Amino acid sequence: MEKFKKPIYVTQPFLPPLEQFQGYLKEIWDSKWLTNQGKFHQEFEKALAEYLGVKYISLFTNGTLAIITALQTLRITGQVITTPFSFVATTHALWWNNIKPVFADIEPTTFNLDPEKIEAAITPNTTAILPVHVYGNPCNVDRIKEIADTYGLKLIYDACHTFGVKINNVPVLNFGDLSVMSFHATKVFTTFEGGAIVCHDEATKKRIDFLKNFGFAGEITVVAPGINAKMNEFQAALGLLQLKYIDEAIEKRKQIAAHYRETLMNVSGLKYLEDIPGVRHCYSYFPILIDKEKFGKTRDEVYEHLKRHNIYGRRYFYPLISQFPAYKGLESAQPGKMTVAERVAEEVLCLPIYPDLKEQDVELVCSLIKSFGHQKGKSRNEISNRKNNTSSKLG
Ligand SMILES: Cc1ncc(COP(=O)(O)O)c(C=O)c1O
Repeated sequence: MEKFKKPIYVTQPFLPPLEQFQGYLKEIWDSKWLTNQGKFHQEFEKALAEYLGVKYISLFTNGTLAIITALQTLRITGQVITTPFSFVATTHALWWNNIKPVFADIEPTTFNLDPEKIEAAITPNTTAILPVHVYGNPCNVDRIKEIADTYGLKLIYDACHTFGVKINNVPVLNFGDLSVMSFHATKVFTTFEGGAIVCHDEATKKRIDFLKNFGFAGEITVVAPGINAKMNEFQAALGLLQLKYIDEAIEKRKQIAAHYRETLMNVSGLKYLEDIPGVRHCYSYFPILIDKEKFGKTRDEVYEHLKRHNIYGRRYFYPLISQFPAYKGLESAQPGKMTVAERVAEEVLCLPIYPDLKEQDVELVCSLIKSFGHQKGKSRNEISNRKNNTSSKLG
């Protein structure tokens, strides 16, 4: 089949006007201050904390080093309960700290770590819980906090998919002992590569800042075997500029998500996530679940079909982290132990979503999917006055 001219990828970074960034570059060139707590780093850290509504934030060169450092910050050891349904870096960060990951199943409604599965996974060696706000949808933060408090466990959220997400106006980053962010090029908010740790007191921020800078607490004082995970001036300058455009970018993502939902509503065998009441979402991904019996095609067949038309969805998160060679020998990783995660990993496909994605491209993706299944869905016009029908929604 003939390919469409321009590939449509699952995401595309949202970038500010180049001339504006060139102004910042000129400043960096003139100052010759490229990294190590420069002017842009300081300004961005302050502006970012303000935008996100958090008290303390430390910038990092990427999200992976930020998770590794977050675990070091709280001296987490032994076993940590986490989700298999995430990007590999979540579990790799445990491995790099010599911590044993213990996987627990996810909720069928949000695909986040299921609080009811956490308790059963706790052992005398458990020291912390590392959940992920998958696709930017908040975990059941109240219930998870309750469990962490009851068992005296630390709570570190992988918040790499969230940006500006709030629950009843409270930033999701304010839950847990620490939250870790990523500003990778594929994320809603990007600084090329980048990341951050959010914490809730000055002493912890100080420790994080020592750890990300080799453990230096002064010119000749090293208080810990820290790492080099500092954000540089180029990243920070882009971050500062990005903040001016982020609300607009999230709004455009919201419209694209609404368009997908409207167009894919009532397609037999297809499901998607709905917005959660009271939550301000960031629409970082648009995952759909494909039930092969009802839809008539498997997820992989749909994935390949789109690819033949130059549309590159991604099977986030397949395979499950627990199925990779480094982890599949773990007791908690054995097949049949996490039935929800196993099913979702087989059925999920993330469709393209980014602020500059055109309406006609959304239409194209949807029509290719709908015409491929054995039952076509209804057109936009047909469903326009049936918006409240929830039969395709999850939970
Ligand atoms: C859930 C999750 N955790 C961690 C990471 C790692 O972040 P980074 O790529 O900035 O190292 C990513 C993304 O890349 C992610 O999606």
